[in-house]
Amino acid sequence: MRMRKKEWARPELAACPYYTANPEKWRGQWDTFFEKKQPIFLDLGCGKCEFLRQVAVRHPEINFIGIDQSDDVLGVGRRLIEDTYKEAGRDHVHNIALFAGDIEKLPLFLDPEQDKIARIYINFCNPWPKARHHKRRLTYTKQLFMYRQFLNENGEIWFKTDNDDLFLSSQRYFREAGFTIYALTYDLHKENDPENAQSEHERMFTKQGIPTKALKARIDPSFVWPKADEADTAEEEPTAEEAVPAEKAGKETAEGEN
Ligand SMILES: C[S@@+](CC[C@H](N)C(=O)[O-])C[C@H]1O[C@@H](n2cnc3c(N)ncnc32)[C@H](O)[C@@H]1O
Repeated sequence: MRMRKKEWARPELAACPYYTANPEKWRGQWDTFFEKKQPIFLDLGCGKCEFLRQVAVRHPEINFIGIDQSDDVLGVGRRLIEDTYKEAGRDHVHNIALFAGDIEKLPLFLDPEQDKIARIYINFCNPWPKARHHKRRLTYTKQLFMYRQFLNENGEIWFKTDNDDLFLSSQRYFREAGFTIYALTYDLHKENDPENAQSEHERMFTKQGIPTKALKARIDPSFVWPKADEADTAEEEPTAEEAVPAEKAGKETAEGEN
């Protein structure tokens, strides 16, 4: 569901010292955005920063960049971050950067040589269930290839989802993109990991009784890159439910998506 426009979000973000409306300007020098040079973690599709605010206040020794396409959700996130840092007795937010941007255009905002990222979080991204939309998944092989160039040599991606099909396919995407999955669970909360911070969607799906699936992957240094024309995985076959009978296919196209 789309969030209603928040008229206050943009003015508040414009006045926020850790939000930038010009992320391209910081390309190649994100280290200097922060007070201290320290490892950078990225939260892709951070939404209302429910997850980000918890991990960032807990880890002042890490710099965090939160990216989302929507200023409205980032506006809500900024307010939550402020509350969290105040409650923790911090006088200001020193280790967060926020910006609105399209994750598919990450190379416009990050330089693969200069902006080295130690960890990427992908929490509850859109599962894009139809086979013809799988390429839009934030964990799709081609996307992971793209993120890989920004990760440092021991770089990691931590991924959580409610969606079984996305979780299963993503395990393949990670392997195809040259990552080793070193931790994996089909029910994260059963493990009672005190380090786990629940995101907004994680709380929502947990309330509905849906377990959180999670994996941690790191770059496999022995991975041999496929040739350019092999790097993009073949179009995936539609699932049985998605296979549209020929006579219906024209109708669906005419009526548009969803
Ligand atoms: C389902 S929400 C999950 C939010 C949060 N990570 C959580 O776990 O609660 C997905 C978020 O990803 C953002 N998003 C989806 N595709 C994006 C893209 N290509 N670029 C930037 N943000 C994107 C959406 O705006 C939305 O806030």
